[in-house]
Formats: sequence, structure tokens, C-alpha cells
Amino acid sequence: MSELAAAPGRPPPLVIGRLRIAPPVLLAPMSALTNLPMRALCEEAGCGFTVTEFLAAPALAARARRELRKLQPSPGRPFGAQIFGRDPRQMGRAAAICVEGGAALVDLNMGCPARKVTKGCAGASLMREPALAVELVRAVCEAVAGRAEVSVKMRSGWDEGNKNAPEFAAAMVAAGAQAVTVHGRTRAQMFSGVVDLAIIAEVKRALGAVPVIGNGDVVDAASLARMFEATGCDGAMIGRAALGNPWIFTLARAWWCGEPLPAPPEPRDRLAMYRAHLLHYLTIADDEQQAVIEMRKFAGWYLRGFPGASMLRKAIYGLASKEEVLRLVSETAL
Ligand SMILES: Cc1cc2nc3c(=O)[nH]c(=O)nc-3n(C[C@H](O)[C@H](O)[C@H](O)COP(=O)(O)O)c2cc1C
Repeated sequence: MSELAAAPGRPPPLVIGRLRIAPPVLLAPMSALTNLPMRALCEEAGCGFTVTEFLAAPALAARARRELRKLQPSPGRPFGAQIFGRDPRQMGRAAAICVEGGAALVDLNMGCPARKVTKGCAGASLMREPALAVELVRAVCEAVAGRAEVSVKMRSGWDEGNKNAPEFAAAMVAAGAQAVTVHGRTRAQMFSGVVDLAIIAEVKRALGAVPVIGNGDVVDAASLARMFEATGCDGAMIGRAALGNPWIFTLARAWWCGEPLPAPPEPRDRLAMYRAHLLHYLTIADDEQQAVIEMRKFAGWYLRGFPGASMLRKAIYGLASKEEVLRLVSETAL
């Protein structure tokens, strides 16, 4: 396969240490969602790089099977693993395990707003403890010892009065991080309001040549172009818009290569992708019925926006076995 190239006026590939990411458009880590099947489908659709959902450093350091299983690579593709925690030794141990598990990049989560994470004083709450955050980055860099690249994912700050992303990002880079991702919302905003592109631009100015990945509210080619143009960022990360919609990366790749933008998927493409996602999910699941139940949320995202979608979703929600769901899917003519 020939190497993808950027069209004139598009940003160059994203380079983080030895990683070259083209197109410079990444799948955001999303807990309980970006496991191997979702990452693989997004990669096939054109995503430049994917990152696992966050992995708890204490559990990973203890080699808990549940957490280790989330470190599944797509054959032949580099991937990132994200860890969260607040104990430098545990974070170091967890990072080393990610590298053993094949991760080419270890990302430290300093942006998660969820109470169960921030109450344990990890995730976004680390933006209020820069000295500890520096220790964590140092510990991870030391543990990976150049075997993987290291990045930090953060928010714009804790709340409106404490938007410290530019200084915080600079401190993380001084501690050894080779790239940062900024979701342009404060922890207090959670997912509300609009993303603040100006603060991502400020982070980019503060970091100079160090790669910055902009994140938040990229949903189509126009918002992707705006993310790059308004912030000067080196890469863009897409989360919610990829749910039930790996085609967002086909669109991003076409935009980046300067090709005509593809038409939105037809209902039958959506159904086929849901089926492919389910089949892949079943190959990694321990418990078939649990996998069918967990895939219901994806049915909600894939199967919408066409006549009969709501009835089809409801029918799928009522089924508990893989045979029943697959039969329904194969009997549905769209
Ligand atoms: C359901 C869900 C789970 C998420 N889990 C994680 C996570 O594990 N780690 C993380 O850094 N961010 C997590 N995020 C935040 C996303 O990575 C991303 O920063 C955020 O959704 C904004 O990007 P978007 O507007 O493209 O969705 C999660 C977001 C959602 C909606």
C-alpha cells in the first residue's frame, strides 16, 4: 500500500517520537467503548491512530486479567494505551506492562471528569496538582525507557477560573511528555457547552514544536478543518462522533488527502457495520450473552436516521442470543 500524503494546505502527518500518524486524526479513548473491535473498525475506515479506553494503573500493575485484556492490538498496527492513577510507582509499573503488551504510546489520563476517577484524585483532578502530575510523567518516562512514546491527555482546566492547560502542558513536556492532547472544555463543563478552541491554540503557542492534539466537537469535515485552522494543532482526536460511525474517519482521510468527500453511509451499510462490529466483539468476549447485551448500545448508534430504525433497535434490544440477533440482521432488508 502506498503511503498516504496530505493535500496542499492540509497539516503534515503527526510525528510523536518514532510514531508517524497519517492522517493526523485519532480515535479518542472512550471507556467501555474503544475496545479492539471499535478501534479496528475505525482503523479500517481511515483513522490514523487509536488509543485504548483508560486502564486503571493499580489493577494493571497487579496484572488483573480484566485490565490486561484491554491491551489488545490490531495485528500490524501501532496503538496507544491510556492509564490513570496517582501513584508514581504504580503508574510506572502499569506503563511498563502496556509496553510489554505492545503499546507504542502510553498516554496519561489527566482529563477524565468522572467522579469515580476524580474522587480517587486521578484524571482531571491532577490538573490541580501539577507537582504530582510531573512526578507521574517522570515515573512513566523512566519506566518505558524509550521503548514507547509518552503523552498526556488533559482538559482546558478544572473550571472557568482555573484554565491552566498552557502552563500545565508545558510542565508535562518539561517532565518528559512528547505530546499532549487537549479537550477544550474544563472539568466543570463535563461535556456541556462548546469546545474552547482558543485555549487549544494557547497550548500550541506555549509548546512550540511539541505536538498538540486538539479534541472536542469534531463531527464532520468542516469542524475538523476548523480544529486545525483555529488552533494550529498537529493532530485532531474524535470521540463521540465516531460512535456507530467509523465513516467519520473515511471522511477525515478524504479531507486530508484532498479527495472528494464520500457520501454518508446508506442504511444497509450501517446494518452491515453493526453486524461486523458484533461479530468482532463476539470473538474477544468471554461471555457471549454479555457481549450481545453490551452491543445493544452500539445498535443505538449504528441503527438510526432511517425509516424503520427505531423498530429495528427495539427488536434488537429484546434479544439476548447471538443467533437471534444475527438472524434478525440477516432477515432485515434495507
Ligand atoms: C462515553 C465516554 C467515555 C470516555 N472515556 C474516556 C477515557 O477512558 N479516557 C479519556 O481520556 N477520555 C474519555 N472520554 C473523553 C473523550 O476521549 C473526549 O475527550 C471527549 O469525548 C471529547 O471529544 P468529542 O467531542 O470528540 O467526543 C470519554 C468520553 C465519552 C463520551
